[in-house]
Amino acid sequence: MVRSPLDPIPTMGRDLERLELRLEDSIHTEHPFLTEVAGHLIRAGGKRVRPGFVIASASIAQTRPAPVEDDVLTGGVAVELVHLGSLYHDDVMDEAQVRRNVASVNAKWGNLRAILAGDFLLARASELAASLGTEVAGLLAATIGRLCEGQVRELQDTGNPDRTETSYTASIEGKTASLLATSCRIGGLVAGLDRPVVDTLTEFGRYYGLAFQVVDDILDIVATDEHLGKPSGNDLHEGIYTLPVIRALGTAYGPQLRDLLGGTVSDATVRSALQLVLASGGVQEALDVARRYSKQASASLEALPPTTAAAALGVATAHLIDRARIPLGDS
Ligand code: IPE
Ligand code: IPE
Ligand code: MG
Ligand code: MG
Repeated sequence: MVRSPLDPIPTMGRDLERLELRLEDSIHTEHPFLTEVAGHLIRAGGKRVRPGFVIASASIAQTRPAPVEDDVLTGGVAVELVHLGSLYHDDVMDEAQVRRNVASVNAKWGNLRAILAGDFLLARASELAASLGTEVAGLLAATIGRLCEGQVRELQDTGNPDRTETSYTASIEGKTASLLATSCRIGGLVAGLDRPVVDTLTEFGRYYGLAFQVVDDILDIVATDEHLGKPSGNDLHEGIYTLPVIRALGTAYGPQLRDLLGGTVSDATVRSALQLVLASGGVQEALDVARRYSKQASASLEALPPTTAAAALGVATAHLIDRARIPLGDS
């Protein structure tokens, strides 16, 4: 059984099992090597948050949970493939060696194959979205564009200790929140829900996505490699200064921290910088920001009918903040 933060929906486990089969099928090609590379991270697991959101959103108006239609699963496969394609490319950009507790695609087969296989995943996602109609196809294409904008913005700020919080927020909005918003929107569109409900689901996904990336950025600083399934401290190592660091730079620890940042930094420098960020209170400030976004996500849910799916999205939102609090020992 696939584990998901949305497990409280009684039909979710079964729907995600159906999704797994569709995911495996979706990357099949006549070229066995491409099939193998494209399937690498699918086999490695992952939380399947985005397909879970498609399924939960499509079920948002149901008083009694029932298995979703095949078209909803098609939407779920499409968004997970976009997520995967973005991870293949992101791991090239971040020079990441581990992803989902296994060697990253770039570590195993090199950057060139990782880029091509990532393109292939995006292509298959687009094909599936097209089968759901022009609105979904256009939405997914626009989302891939937003993702690129977010990633480029982050790249332009790499190694820049003057990175602003406004620029950081615009980056995470594009690279993460847009796909989570779109996942919810696609669920609502494919299920034929009323426009105001579809818009509310989209708003929920966006706020959840903003909180999700801030939490991911906190975890990069406070969690262990084992907890993450990917190496911690990688952002600082790569010169990606996320919200806890931006906030730390604005405290009395700022000047000392600034001296350590910029350019290529050694593991020892990363460790010293991490200590300063932790001592500065920047992590707690970032956690407060994540909490605000998650409250906004929960507030969006109040406009939806009080169904099992809506309640499960609420639980998933609360769980998100707990993920960051556990390694922090915050109460
Ligand atoms: C990782 O996303 C990339 C971010 C947007 C932070 P997830 O945390 O959803 O990764 P998987 O799918 O569970 O591996
Ligand atoms: C999220 O950015 C990646 C995408 C949205 C493509 P990160 O670089 O922070 O994600 P992780 O930490 O590698 O999972
Ligand atoms: Mg990364
Ligand atoms: Mg990245």
